[in-house]
Amino acid sequence: MTARATSPVLVGRTEQLAALEGSLGRSRRGPSVILVGGEAGVGKSRLVSEFAARSRTAGARVLTGGCVELGTEGLPFAPFTAVLRELVRDLGADGVAALLPGGVTRDFARLLPEFGPADSDTDHIVARARLFEQVLALLERLADTGPVALLIEDAHWADRSTRDLLAFLVGRQQILDGVLIIVTYRSDELHRTHPLRPLLAELARLSWVERMDLARLDRRHADELVARILGREPEPALADAVFQRADGNPLFVEELLCDCDNSVPSMLPASLRDMLLIAVRRLPEPTQEVLRAASAGGQRNGHALLAAVTGLPDDDLSRALRPAVEANVLTADADGYSFRHDLIREATLDDVLPGEHTRLHTRFAEALEADPGLVPPARAAMEQAYHWYAAHDTVRALASSWRAAEEAGRAMVAHAEQLTLLGRVLELWDKVPDAEQRIGASHLTVLERAARAARMAGEHERGAAFASAALNEVDPAAEPARAALLLEMRALQRGHSGNDEVLADLQTALDLVPPGVADAARARVLVTMATHAGQPYGPEALAAVEEALTLARQASAATTEAAALRELGVLRARAGDNREALEMLAQARAVAGRAGAYDSLLRAVIEESHVLEGMGEHERAANVAQAGIASAQDYGLARSSGTFLAINVAESLFSLGRWDEAMDVIEHALALSPTQQDIRAALRQLAGEIAVRRGDLAGAAESAATARAAVGLAGYRHPGQYQIPLARLDIELRLAEGKPAAALAAALAAAADAAGRLDLALDPRYAWPLLAAAVRAVTAAARAAGRDRALAGQAAELLARLRALAAQMPVNGPVQQADRLAFSAEALRAQEAVRTAPAAPAAVAGRAEQEIPAAWDAAAAAWERVGQPYPLAVALLRAAEAALAAGYRDGSAERLRRAAELADSLRARPLAVEIGALARNARIGPADRRGARGDAAATPLGLTARELEVLRLVAHGQSNPEIAARLFISAKTASVHVSNIMAKVGVSSRGEAAAAAHRMHLFDAVPAP
Ligand SMILES: Nc1ncnc2c1ncn2[C@@H]1O[C@H](COP(=O)(O)OP(=O)(O)OP(=O)(O)O)[C@@H](O)[C@H]1O
Ligand SMILES: [Mg+2]
Repeated sequence: MTARATSPVLVGRTEQLAALEGSLGRSRRGPSVILVGGEAGVGKSRLVSEFAARSRTAGARVLTGGCVELGTEGLPFAPFTAVLRELVRDLGADGVAALLPGGVTRDFARLLPEFGPADSDTDHIVARARLFEQVLALLERLADTGPVALLIEDAHWADRSTRDLLAFLVGRQQILDGVLIIVTYRSDELHRTHPLRPLLAELARLSWVERMDLARLDRRHADELVARILGREPEPALADAVFQRADGNPLFVEELLCDCDNSVPSMLPASLRDMLLIAVRRLPEPTQEVLRAASAGGQRNGHALLAAVTGLPDDDLSRALRPAVEANVLTADADGYSFRHDLIREATLDDVLPGEHTRLHTRFAEALEADPGLVPPARAAMEQAYHWYAAHDTVRALASSWRAAEEAGRAMVAHAEQLTLLGRVLELWDKVPDAEQRIGASHLTVLERAARAARMAGEHERGAAFASAALNEVDPAAEPARAALLLEMRALQRGHSGNDEVLADLQTALDLVPPGVADAARARVLVTMATHAGQPYGPEALAAVEEALTLARQASAATTEAAALRELGVLRARAGDNREALEMLAQARAVAGRAGAYDSLLRAVIEESHVLEGMGEHERAANVAQAGIASAQDYGLARSSGTFLAINVAESLFSLGRWDEAMDVIEHALALSPTQQDIRAALRQLAGEIAVRRGDLAGAAESAATARAAVGLAGYRHPGQYQIPLARLDIELRLAEGKPAAALAAALAAAADAAGRLDLALDPRYAWPLLAAAVRAVTAAARAAGRDRALAGQAAELLARLRALAAQMPVNGPVQQADRLAFSAEALRAQEAVRTAPAAPAAVAGRAEQEIPAAWDAAAAAWERVGQPYPLAVALLRAAEAALAAGYRDGSAERLRRAAELADSLRARPLAVEIGALARNARIGPADRRGARGDAAATPLGLTARELEVLRLVAHGQSNPEIAARLFISAKTASVHVSNIMAKVGVSSRGEAAAAAHRMHLFDAVPAP
């Protein structure tokens, strides 16, 4: 026995769980039955037991009984016996008896001895009918006191009596108010003549019976399951390997992970193999023989290929395979067969004797050489290489692997496969005496290709190893450029695991190619050098990039030119020159596009959307990145650049307050299983951010933990981009949990980091929001300090530190300006909180309350300008709070109304609650919501400022929903505005309103939206 580790939490299945709970909730309003089907190990039991646990907590009674596998004539009524036993344990035999009409339990004695001797003299048929009625009555009475869920597990093993009783109960469910019946069964066991089939078909005809097909977990959830089982984020290669083999079946995931630390075992665990082979071994021998052949061919085999390999005529082949299809071992499609699960294939293949093994693979390879058309065009070379290798034909395996690797490399998408094939070439190299002649390439060339493929596939450690091996074979004196580029490649790959030798490699490389020796190579090394310079974004970096650009242009090295332009764009943006930055990035894109350097192109796109986001152009940023994702898919880079771009899209949507869309993007990207850990970390961190704001603290805590685990695995050259947002999330989470002291501790830790390993000033974009969160922690802690001098003292001290940090922080673009204003306002609020704390330390700055409303108004205006509804709502709330404290009501009502509207549309519950509480305390009701209307007299045509804004959008042809989205109001409100505008302007259509606006040159000075 091996101890299988399981996941402590149910992964995925939210929808299914909700469906079950919904049905239980509705069971009072009508009968309901759910038939949960799915293959073995897919998680039926786990799902229903989670449901059972939750329902019990919610006060429902859950009765469970499982069917047991005991041949065809199993234990009669086994699951019902279990249910009764459970009830007796709970209520006592007398308690159960008390529930029945007349207290008669004699019939139950057939099931449980606790009910005394069964009377043997009654007619068998009558006794059975009475038993059925008794069970029905029992359930009915149980449901009188609360909802009941009856759970019958593994119905594929149900004996005849159980099936009959089940059919009886389901059929009479109309009288069973408040009882939900759930039945689970293995769909893969239901061969054509299985006795459960007709019952399921019969039940499914009833209107209150629903079927739920439990599918395997998708990629994202399968990865999550692996992480849960291991207790950490898996390395991407491990996650890939597990998904490839288990294909989302949770049981198989567990089996593959048992006893494994870092890799999936190459052989199936014996227990799993036996389990998988049960169905195969029941099949007729000729069927098994064809299955063994098919197992050598792969997960799916075309009919024609299989016919060629087995030498069977078409009809005979079909006949031989039919039992396998009927037993659900294979599934058939138009012209081929797939194993229902790849692990069944593996187990079958494991069962093949070694000699037979070689013979089968040779037959496949030969069949494919004779007719490559037997498989889809792109696969022929790869499959041949696989079969020759598996057939141990070293010479043919070497040559065909090389050919296939070339093809995989050309096809762009197949870097991982290419890497495997090149690995094979290297493995076979020494066994083939004239290897170099056979493939027409040297060992060194193969190593270089492998290093590059590894880089593209995101396997940086292997890539660095290949590059090192290649460096051992190259003579730097004879081929300095080649050596320099290998060093550069190794540096890039080492950079991913946070290796210190990166700079040393780059320096050696640069020394190998002084100016005038190999300018293309020098240019390339320089660009990489710039991004790894000791002081990122400093003058050294700029000098390196500029030299690189000149050299790359002279040498017509387009890819390097694009990279240099991109880095230049990054540096310009850092220096605050966004327009110039965008210009450089556009050039980088164009050059990369012309050169077909897609990776480079997408990296320019990533930077471009980053710059736009920093400029407060959230919508453009999202659109640019979104378009980049589409290209990434076309270029076969969906998992690498594509998922990176998803971070950018999600960030911008997050800023725009389009959180549902942001979550969609995040989930979708995670489902692709990003190649890099840092990408997962950033995606999960954003998900956590949204969860906190929506009040889903458990979800947020979970996201934060997984994000942190993922960041822990990866190494960074600029950790800030990942570490800073996580630090912020930690603080926010604790604040939301109502733990001010813990929030302060997290903020202090972040400030300590800022004094040490994290240079906040390098990443102002992420650092400003961190400072804002930290200063909120100061306010909260000071307010909670009471007589706790230590806490109040720490709060005061941190406030001073944060102000000092803020004073040194660059402010780049309008978003950071808004960040700074919000920070300053919150710092004043914190100062007041510290000053007025009962345990206030002596040395606090003076009163600040007078300045607070204006400070928040300034922040609100800044957030309004960059179109970020959430911080805008916060600023409005704080401004109102401070104004109310100072006795100004009118403006406060208007601010609160706006804030409430924004918080509602974001579904930011905690914020909405806080706004509502303030409004109630200040007795500002919804009636005041229409209060202040702006200064109508000052605007043309008597339009309010808001109406003018709406008219501007109407004049630009925007629809009500578009206007609503842009102004963060509902479509209905937008339509009310439009009607008012038409009335005031005296027109009867939007078109006329737009025309009037143009005629009056109302918006000539304002840029288009
Ligand atoms: N969604 C999930 N999250 C976490 N673990 C899961 C999930 N689904 C299944 N598992 C785990 O996978 C294993 C197999 O699941 P389970 O026993 O529920 O499968 P089953 O569909 O009931 O299979 P069988 O047909 O053999 O009864 C269990 O250890 C279970 O804990
Ligand atoms: Mg089960």
